[in-house]
Amino acid sequence: MKKKANFFKSLRFRILIILIILGIVPSVIVTRMVISNYEDRAIAVRIDKVKSQCDILCSLLIRENYLNDSSSQIVNSKLELLSNVYNGRILLVDRDFKIVKDTFGVDEGATLLSPLVIKCFKGEEASAYNKNTQILALAVPVKSPEVKQLQGAMLICVSSGEIAATIEEVDQKSILIIGIIVALAILMGYVLSTVLVKPFARVTKSIEDLTDGYQNEEISVPDYTETELITDAFNKMLNRMRVLDESRQEFVSNVSHELKTPLTSMKVLADSLVGQEGIPEELYQEFMSDITAEIDRENKIITDLLSLVKMDKKAADLNIQHMDINQLLEGILKRLRPIADKRNIDLILDCFRPVEADVDEVKFTLAISNLVENGIKYNVDDGWVRVTLDADHKYFYVTVADSGMGIPEESIDRIFERFYRVDKSHSKEIGGTGLGLAITRSSIAMHHGAIKVFSKEGEGTTFSVRIPLSYIP
Ligand SMILES: Nc1ncnc2c1ncn2[C@@H]1O[C@H](COP(=O)(O)OP(=O)(O)OP(=O)(O)O)[C@@H](O)[C@H]1O
Ligand SMILES: [Mg+2]
Repeated sequence: MKKKANFFKSLRFRILIILIILGIVPSVIVTRMVISNYEDRAIAVRIDKVKSQCDILCSLLIRENYLNDSSSQIVNSKLELLSNVYNGRILLVDRDFKIVKDTFGVDEGATLLSPLVIKCFKGEEASAYNKNTQILALAVPVKSPEVKQLQGAMLICVSSGEIAATIEEVDQKSILIIGIIVALAILMGYVLSTVLVKPFARVTKSIEDLTDGYQNEEISVPDYTETELITDAFNKMLNRMRVLDESRQEFVSNVSHELKTPLTSMKVLADSLVGQEGIPEELYQEFMSDITAEIDRENKIITDLLSLVKMDKKAADLNIQHMDINQLLEGILKRLRPIADKRNIDLILDCFRPVEADVDEVKFTLAISNLVENGIKYNVDDGWVRVTLDADHKYFYVTVADSGMGIPEESIDRIFERFYRVDKSHSKEIGGTGLGLAITRSSIAMHHGAIKVFSKEGEGTTFSVRIPLSYIP
């Protein structure tokens, strides 16, 4: 069944999110900057304008000597007019900070110690803008051109509501613009992600077609480097699977063949006994012993196959014990000596030091026995097989060398394969199934060890095995 795709985990969704962020963030920053810039400029222009009008009024104040006598009708009306124009309030203070005139008419006679006025008396620029109340305050010095000292100050507070209104309007428009940008980003993201993701969808489709069996070859989607890498890796895996499948099929056909051979011989032998009457006792005996030999052979093949299958199950049923390896090797040679003696082959054990290591007794014995057995089997009469044992701080090493027929160079790489035998004709008389070395190699691999072979045709063969002293699962 097809797995339902999670949209929020998809590449498409991510492209969409990235485009939306890329659209929103810069436009928000830009509109914020524009608005804040506009506000600063508008306030500065307003201050300039108010200030120049106040300056004109201040010179009139001096001329009319208003600070000492606030009855001047012209000045009063001008002050009134200015405060009305800006919808604000004007306060006039004299040198003693006493309010001489308040256009609201409430604080006259009181003392005004506003920071702006103090700043103005010190001769500094004095203006302030309150963003929350949207009120702009400004203090202007009142002085005559002849006298250096100030005679008073004019404090004017004007409302700047229309600036705030303009900003509000721009703000609303910017929200609309950002909305449009987001919509465009979504649209672009949709189109872009569809185009970008397509090759990956093609990879999936190719793999599915392959699985469904519409296509037999390798897959290829060369649109991007990434898809090329994916399909290359996939093809590699596919080839590996094909090789495995072929070797499995070969193994099955080999097994069937090997199991059938003894059966065929038995059938022939049995048939010839059944077909004849009055067979002499000796012939009967001979055929029966041949049949027994074939049964033994069949039995050995099945036992070997079972041990191989067991090894394939990996470390699950490995029974590791700390063992005396010298003693183990002595036991193996003792068991095989009678076979060697039959052909007068010398079995020699050379131990360079006492070795104790973690091994599975049964599997390790099987591995080394197979090597020594081969040394005897593929030897010449009156030859020798030499087994050595050595160790360092990490590994122990067993070598099995013989004075036998050796292995041809072109076969060296194949002798560990299941059922492989170098020369079928001489192998027939020697006997064997070609499973021995496969079992040996699996067993050594289970011990995390390694096996190597050196051989020269006509001179002899040496197998060397290296196994870690302590087993780490
Ligand atoms: N010491 C050796 N000298 C020469 N040839 C060898 C030696 N050991 C193995 N071979 C070659 O490698 C082949 C594979 O060996 P392997 O032990 O797997 O199978 P086998 O001995 O034929 O059968 P089995 O061990 O299953 O009874 C042998 O048939 C033989 O041709
Ligand atoms: Mg063998």
